[in-house]
Amino acid sequence: MKKRIVAVTCVLMFCLGLIGCGTERADKTQQLIRGAAPGYNDGLIRVGMIQTGKESDWRDANTNDYLNTFTKERGYDLIYIDGNSSSERQVKAMYDLIQQKVDYIILQPIVETGWEDAIHAAKEAGIPVIVADRKIAVDETEYVSWIGSDFEEEGRKAVTWLDQYLTEQGRENETIHIVLLEGTEGATAAIGRTNGILHGVEEHPNWTIVDRGCANFTQGEGQTYMENLLSEGTVKDIDVIISENDNMIFGAMKALDRNGKSYGPEGDIIMISFDALHESFENMMAGKLHATVECNPLLASTVETVIEELEAGREVDKIYNTEENIYTYENAADYIDQRKY
Ligand code: AHR
Repeated sequence: MKKRIVAVTCVLMFCLGLIGCGTERADKTQQLIRGAAPGYNDGLIRVGMIQTGKESDWRDANTNDYLNTFTKERGYDLIYIDGNSSSERQVKAMYDLIQQKVDYIILQPIVETGWEDAIHAAKEAGIPVIVADRKIAVDETEYVSWIGSDFEEEGRKAVTWLDQYLTEQGRENETIHIVLLEGTEGATAAIGRTNGILHGVEEHPNWTIVDRGCANFTQGEGQTYMENLLSEGTVKDIDVIISENDNMIFGAMKALDRNGKSYGPEGDIIMISFDALHESFENMMAGKLHATVECNPLLASTVETVIEELEAGREVDKIYNTEENIYTYENAADYIDQRKY
């Protein structure tokens, strides 16, 4: 009986070509076995995607854009990894994807630093890395392209609008007390916006930042930050709140409501944020928000174009910047129906 089993197994192995093979044959067999599993070596392009987490509504729109673009029907096998707001987890994900020998890696880093070794390992493994949204602090020869917003320009747009608005209101010579709610420390979106805003503030000797701090781009932290600031009572005057994303200003609004503070075009505090979510248009139309600077989360189609070009053996650009606008309570009604996120 035992002999018969061995014989049958040998015949089967022979038919499958598993006997007497060297490494090359073993690799081929391995490929055949993987080919049987859906999404592996079945003509689909395997794309590993490392996301930051779920910190904001902007991020949800950004994630959905990738999930809707890199589908099996459109020729992709997407391995989506949620960084869960942890840089360590993101770096580990990069090594996992390298081990899985994916065709491309899309990296949306939480912070700019800490990427040298992992990015270099992907390059050594011959896997093109496309960085999107935020940047990484490595030599640009280490990755293929970066696709995202000019965050510093976004910051400048916010302060340019504030300058014009104060002038229109006849307040250009008043002392203006600004609270700055910042995004995640070390994230390009926060670094760029903060730089743009601070340069604008420096150009106005009568503008002063009375308080600034990090609320990590989340609504909950935006609310807590503002609650704490109001309950401490150390900052007496607030003329303007600039929040480095919409969700943090939604949180701040809750704190202001709970403390009986008025804000928005009909109230006392000038409210400015970033992202241009649909909810911000509703808030602008409801008289709660003055302006929101657009940050486009719909990056997947540009990432896909880069992959298509590489597949066709063509050169790609190093930087792809998205086009963005600023919207205000005065024109929100004209644009709300066109908003995609
Ligand atoms: O990096 C883009 C920023 O990250 C968006 O402004 C913010 O909402 C998101 O979480």
